[in-house]
Amino acid sequence: GDFTIGIHDLSFATTQFVLTHATLAAYNGTPVGKYHAGIGQRSMSVPAADEDVVTMAAAAVAPIVSRHGSDLIRTIVFATETSIDQARAAGIPVHSLLGLPSATRIVELKQACYGATAALQFAIGLVRRDRSQQVLVIASDVSKYDLDTPGEATQGAAAVAMLVSADPALVRIEDPSGVFTADIMDFWRPNYRATALVDGKESVSAYLQAVEGAWKDYAEQGGRRLDEFSAFCYHQPFTKMAYKAHRHLLQYCGSNIDEGEITRVIGQTTAYNTVIGNSYTASMYLGLAALLDNADDLSHQAIGFLSYGSGSVAEFFAGTVVPGYRSHLRRAAHHEVIVRRQEIDYAKYRELHEQSLPVDGGDYRVPRETTGPYRLAALSGHKRIYEPR
Ligand code: CAA
Repeated sequence: GDFTIGIHDLSFATTQFVLTHATLAAYNGTPVGKYHAGIGQRSMSVPAADEDVVTMAAAAVAPIVSRHGSDLIRTIVFATETSIDQARAAGIPVHSLLGLPSATRIVELKQACYGATAALQFAIGLVRRDRSQQVLVIASDVSKYDLDTPGEATQGAAAVAMLVSADPALVRIEDPSGVFTADIMDFWRPNYRATALVDGKESVSAYLQAVEGAWKDYAEQGGRRLDEFSAFCYHQPFTKMAYKAHRHLLQYCGSNIDEGEITRVIGQTTAYNTVIGNSYTASMYLGLAALLDNADDLSHQAIGFLSYGSGSVAEFFAGTVVPGYRSHLRRAAHHEVIVRRQEIDYAKYRELHEQSLPVDGGDYRVPRETTGPYRLAALSGHKRIYEPR
């Protein structure tokens, strides 16, 4: 196959605020060990009143455009399950904030947390058709569950932007893919709800079933053997899920369960997700960012990806790391977006959680909170108005 297309650049952004699991545990009386060790989460990103999937996405895209320009980008695919409009693609205001050329096609994609992987595969198809073009893939989501539910501890928010091109600097994406779909209501959000509904236990078993199904198809399509991979990036609704998933895959394949080995191939993919929380479509790609930014030299090594979206659709595919990739990483900037977040107390978290934008179509100035590069400034006539901060 033609394995010369893949991820040329990757940049992520998150929110203004952060709530620690220690603060949540102190409020609700949960032993903090359940959060830290049980689900593998330390803190979660919380959007400010004037942040949403568009402002996070624009912040993730800006460094990519400033490094590479926008001349070769003719397509933007925006994956999200936190849509702000039933009709219009959230990529359009991002394109506008960044001043990108009008000769661009933009579309929004949805299939729960899996959407960005569909976007990546579609991008590869477009580049295969015309190798001179680049595609900007954006994954941006806010994970929000009702207060005082088991899902609450797995909230979070982030955006990942990836530039997909021929002869990429970071990761070449391979054929084949293993794909899997099952009609299951493990997690969903009806159009009239701001928070997701989930059957927690069912969602974990649906995820594990999808891992099996996607791997089975990958193997049947003639993919690599499990022992050829140096690391595995799983979708991480909470970081312990990646360990559960890998343990399940090893069992399914009849391989040895060696906990040290599992930690070796998973451990470096969790550094960002453990402090950001679930970012749905962005989550698996934050896993990749953590691995590339923090692991020893991975040149020429194969990475396995397992993308899961409730409902459910999953895909297993492989990528190989391009020699020289380390000089193209954004390690310091990624560290900065995490440490610059402002820690909030429980009362502020609750206030933000309960807030919703007015729906009366009148003029509304959104409180000025974020210190990020872009903000949701106002609503007017049912339109969201964004501006650089
Ligand atoms: N110290 C250490 N560990 C502790 C502990 C303590 N004091 N107390 C409990 N634990 C452990 C438990 O033993 C358990 O470990 P195992 O999973 O290894 O058994 C772990 O902490 C979690 O405990 P519970 O299973 O009792 O937790 P829960 O039922 O309250 O909530 C959850 C877990 C169901 C995942 C819940 O967080 C949830 O509903 N989350 C949202 C849904 C979700 O993330 N699903 C994941 C699959 S779906 C998906 O991936 C798509 C997506 O993004 C949503």
